[in-house]
Amino acid sequence: MWAAFRGSSDDEFDTVADAEAEVFQTLDGKWGPFLAEASLVAVLASEVVSAVLLVLDDAHDRAPLLAFAVTAPERQGQGLGGWLIENAVRSLDALGITELHLAVAPMNRALRLYERLGFAEVGP
Ligand SMILES: CC(C)(COP(=O)(O)OP(=O)(O)OC[C@H]1O[C@@H](n2cnc3c(N)ncnc32)[C@H](O)[C@@H]1OP(=O)(O)O)[C@@H](O)C(=O)NCCC(=O)NCCS
Repeated sequence: MWAAFRGSSDDEFDTVADAEAEVFQTLDGKWGPFLAEASLVAVLASEVVSAVLLVLDDAHDRAPLLAFAVTAPERQGQGLGGWLIENAVRSLDALGITELHLAVAPMNRALRLYERLGFAEVGP
């Protein structure tokens, strides 16, 4: 989480501890109920290299939200993040949930990935 966001246009963590706290708080329901059934991590050689954390967004009528998508910097651009998001969407489908929202800064390179995966812009 810390390494992935560092220097990105969505960077919001001052320290590793901040990023770690955000993960635990998200799992604890900071943004709304954590959707464990659709959240995923990719592990390589015992290290988490990519993760997607989904919640039911308290701020938006509990709409399903991709709260965090992160891939370790040295693994970015290898298809992991896209693959996890596609699988998260499949898990949502299995739960009968047919929408997924996210928020991303306009300058974030991830915008291209989200467009490629079929996300559409709905507003600022
Ligand atoms: C966004 C992110 C999760 C995508 O994971 P990934 O494993 O790199 O994704 P994929 O390999 O499946 O897709 C690659 C696409 O991701 C985007 N991407 C690549 N590196 C990126 C980076 N450092 N930051 C943001 N997006 C990136 C690009 O759109 C890229 O497509 P392109 O190569 O055609 O430009 C990952 O790059 C990341 O952790 N970025 C930093 C944290 C972040 O900004 N998260 C999203 C906040 S909403």
